[in-house]
Amino acid sequence: MAAGMADGIEIGFGPLEKSGQGPSGSGDLVVFVGDDLALGSAAREILGGSGADLVARAAASEKFKGRSLSALSLPAPAGIAADRLVVVGLGSDKDRAKTDWPALGGFTAGKVSGRTARVVLDWPGAVVSAREAGQFALGARLRTYSFDRYKTKKKPDADEKAGTTLTLLLPDHEAAAREGEGARTLADSVILARNLVNEPPNVLFPEEFAKRASELGKLGVEIEVLEPARMRELGMGALLAVAQGSVREPRVVIMRWNGGPAGEAPVALIGKGVIFDSGGISIKPGGGMEDMKGDMGGAAAVVGALHALASRKARCNVVGAIGIVENMPDGGAYRPSDIVTSMSGQTIEVINTDAEGRLVLADVITHVIRSFKPKAMVDLATLTGAIIVALGQDIAGMFSNDDTLAGNIHAAGEATGEKVWRMPLIPAYDKAIDSKFADMKNTGGRHGGAATAASFIKRYVEEVPWAHLDIAGVAMSSNASEINRSWGAGWGVRLLDRLVRDHYEAK
Ligand code: BES
Ligand code: MN
Ligand code: ZN
Repeated sequence: MAAGMADGIEIGFGPLEKSGQGPSGSGDLVVFVGDDLALGSAAREILGGSGADLVARAAASEKFKGRSLSALSLPAPAGIAADRLVVVGLGSDKDRAKTDWPALGGFTAGKVSGRTARVVLDWPGAVVSAREAGQFALGARLRTYSFDRYKTKKKPDADEKAGTTLTLLLPDHEAAAREGEGARTLADSVILARNLVNEPPNVLFPEEFAKRASELGKLGVEIEVLEPARMRELGMGALLAVAQGSVREPRVVIMRWNGGPAGEAPVALIGKGVIFDSGGISIKPGGGMEDMKGDMGGAAAVVGALHALASRKARCNVVGAIGIVENMPDGGAYRPSDIVTSMSGQTIEVINTDAEGRLVLADVITHVIRSFKPKAMVDLATLTGAIIVALGQDIAGMFSNDDTLAGNIHAAGEATGEKVWRMPLIPAYDKAIDSKFADMKNTGGRHGGAATAASFIKRYVEEVPWAHLDIAGVAMSSNASEINRSWGAGWGVRLLDRLVRDHYEAK
């Protein structure tokens, strides 16, 4: 599983005293300044008495103001073991107090992409901690990822290409190196999810997806793959209905990480894994349909989260469960007006075959409740276009029946930058999915599409504390950020890792 993971960057750690050393005249030296252009003491020492003048003069001619996430590159002064000096701005004291460390790491990595750089992690008036350095390294790793395995001709001038080498220099470099190890496995977990989202569906069909998820077995994750015969025995009529139009068989993968006390109820993470969503008989318009290879972003996040938890041997019991299907139109496909029976026994009238994700989630959720009696359940799904209309592409929608769980997820989102906004669940949405012919229908009309979808899922969660994250806007087709240049964001891996770390692990 190591191949292709964050291998575009090497990150090491060392003491500040070595800042001035290194093969002379090669690579970059990175220093930081505030908006007053003042250097930290280590940078002043390295650059010598004229260093501050040099930076001030270059800044004036380049109109560089030291604002946060801005940079200035200049030829390194004589006597410095580098050929380029990169000055990165930190902004005002107030900006500095709320520094987004992964973003700063990502920004810096972007500035020195493809080069060797020594980074003086020393701030005017502040000591950078090991934890902060680890977060910086995390951002740098995430920034340099790109999905190019199908490019047969590599562009030599590509912005984020392989071969970036960073050495982060700070006082507490030994502790930072340990934090850096954690950052590496977390970045690898996010990148695993990004790879799954970016892969095309002809390569990553359900069986292949299940195979890749099964590789978590090497980390001690217990894997169970359900095939269609078993799904039929279990009565997964909703999931199977979605799958029946595809020549590719569906899979359900159960991934158990048992790092906590034996017998302790697990936290369940559930993912929608529609490897391609054509809409089925209610077929989608052609424009942009290629984006629907990313309709398994929820399942990818769950696989990535289990990878993160197992890699760091998290002290908790977690079960990941993903429903992997392809939604296709076909002579055998399910159709509007079909009535299917879910594993819970509840019947569903199909109004629109493009509202398939909720059918998949319903059966996976019932199976998880019956098999594992989880103490909490979080599902992630690229469920509705409506959530994108409501919230855009920078924050996910959250629906929950439990204020504590919702609060914890919100906090994990703020801490990691994978933000969620809580949306309402009111009886009117539930009423909107009542059906004339069955227990419920799979769409709720034109209005409140994300909320009626969430209400549908709510009918399957019984009394379990539950949160549903609609990640249609954030999982794919992502806006470029300091820590992501990839189409598939790997959204949710860091959030879930943080949620488990802060609330479900023995300290
Ligand atoms: N996978 C889509 C939702 C989606 C849309 C994800 C755009 C990412 C980007 C989902 O299965 C879907 O088709 N939802 C329909 C529901 C409707 C038919 C009730 C939608 O949002 O239009
Ligand atoms: Mn759909
Ligand atoms: Zn879908």
